[in-house]
Amino acid sequence: GGARLADRHGRRFEYLRLSLTDMCNFRCSYCLPDGFRKARGAPSNLSIDEIRRLVEAFAQLGLWKVRLTGGEPTLRREFLEIARTVTGIEGIRKVAVTTNGYRLAERAQSFADAGISAINVSMDSLQPQRFRAITGHDRLGQILEGIAACRAAGISSVKLNSVLLKGLNDDEVDDFLAFVGEHDLTLRFIEVMRTNDNPGYFAAHHLPGTFISERLETIGWLKQARQAAAGPAIEYTNPDGPGRIGIIAPYSRDFCTSCNRLRVSATGKLHLCLFGDAGIDLRPLLQQDSQKGELIARLQRLVTTKAPAHLLHQDNSGATPHLASIGG
Ligand code: GTP
Ligand code: 5AD
Ligand code: SF4
Repeated sequence: GGARLADRHGRRFEYLRLSLTDMCNFRCSYCLPDGFRKARGAPSNLSIDEIRRLVEAFAQLGLWKVRLTGGEPTLRREFLEIARTVTGIEGIRKVAVTTNGYRLAERAQSFADAGISAINVSMDSLQPQRFRAITGHDRLGQILEGIAACRAAGISSVKLNSVLLKGLNDDEVDDFLAFVGEHDLTLRFIEVMRTNDNPGYFAAHHLPGTFISERLETIGWLKQARQAAAGPAIEYTNPDGPGRIGIIAPYSRDFCTSCNRLRVSATGKLHLCLFGDAGIDLRPLLQQDSQKGELIARLQRLVTTKAPAHLLHQDNSGATPHLASIGG
């Protein structure tokens, strides 16, 4: 019961992607190839109290899933305290994290203990030298240990993300399929997105999601019906055993119709869409518990203005800031 967040296009919003920091210690070639540099005079990240007020307001509007993202969210010194705060908010049923897997092997158990029940890990290649070339870090082995540690810690959902890159990992599709089969995992192939920083890179390495779906259909993987509350990934299952593949193809025609998520940046800006929106500063309404009513009313009003679609399939000159700054 209670209030709901919905727009005029039949979309309900029950899922918040909350960035905890723009900072990242990796240098993925499509995202932060030169590494992270903090802008001078940039506003500070939301405090734990600001995060609590924000998520409490969303929860009162029926939102029940929060994904902590970044940048690399686990670099926040107070990461575990933030996770415990968010998991403890009434109405929040699922707290997930998207991470590059840095030190995951050592930390998975503490994440589970803080109430995190889903972890998505980036893994763009199964070949150590390529992994290093793409991310700037020779850490594939540690990432694999981290995935095993998540399982051992009882984290119920572990998914892998691979950004599909022409000439860099597009010959590894069958290896990834074998890997998810052996390890009973879900891996999502993500179409690389054009950002303000990477237009040349995008032109050189973008491949459409159909590159994957055609391969899967050729070898008999089964396309799943879209679940009512699912996000924009299209999913396939392995006909011969465990393993699932998702395809996130933001340039495909119907991508936005199933969008069920809202984003808040590390400094408190609400982004209704990943593409082409400057963000609305919520921070002034996060300063005192007594502002909750005002914040709730503002959120309800704002989501009704979400654009029906980004129209990138008609005009893909649109671009987003690098995803580390708005929480992928
Ligand atoms: P689940 O909660 O497990 O469904 O995961 P998710 O796909 O929402 O989260 P994750 O952080 O693993 O997403 C991986 C990447 O997919 C993001 O960083 C983006 O690159 C892309 N992605 C996820 N959701 C969207 C979206 O709504 N729009 C666009 N354009 N890309 C998205
Ligand atoms: N295009 C597609 N995916 C991206 N990510 C970061 N930048 C981009 C981009 N330009 C992905 C990462 C990770 C997730 C958090 O976002 O690879 O899987
Ligand atoms: Fe860091 Fe993620 Fe960007 Fe890679 S994609 S540089 S891990 S924020």
